[in-house]
Amino acid sequence: MDVLIHVFVGLHIIGIAALLGGFFFQMKAMSAGEARFVPGMLHGAFTMLVTGMVLVGLNQADGSPVNNVKIGVKLALLVVILGLVYVKRDEEKVSSSLFGTVGALTAANIFIAVLWT
Ligand code: HEM
Repeated sequence: MDVLIHVFVGLHIIGIAALLGGFFFQMKAMSAGEARFVPGMLHGAFTMLVTGMVLVGLNQADGSPVNNVKIGVKLALLVVILGLVYVKRDEEKVSSSLFGTVGALTAANIFIAVLWT
């Protein structure tokens, strides 16, 4: 079970890479107001949701306690991220503030994941 949990943590991190990579890659475009939500960002956000839910299930099945408040906060932030990226996925450019919000919420979720023990 431990190996399976670690595999899903790995997939969870690949999801972060796709979402945050799309953000970092376009930081210059963002300052010019020309960034867009590329497909990889949507797929990354979706990967986070699926792998996150699987991780909750695997941890519970393994008898490891899951911090429901922490998971609830992470889920709430991801729902906002996913909603924004999904709704605006076909727009050729999105405002800097909207694009920045997705980057900031993703970074916030990383720090919630690692600092909230
Ligand atoms: C942008 C969204 C998210 C980011 C950046 C993120 C980030 C991370 C990171 C970096 C870890 C590894 C932490 C560690 O092992 O110390 C982790 C673990 C985990 N994540 Fe996420 N996560 C996100 C969304 C979610 C969602 C939506 C769920 C649940 C529905 C979730 C559930 C979990 C669980 C269960 C673990 C393993 C146990 C734990 O450390 O709490 N994550 N996440």
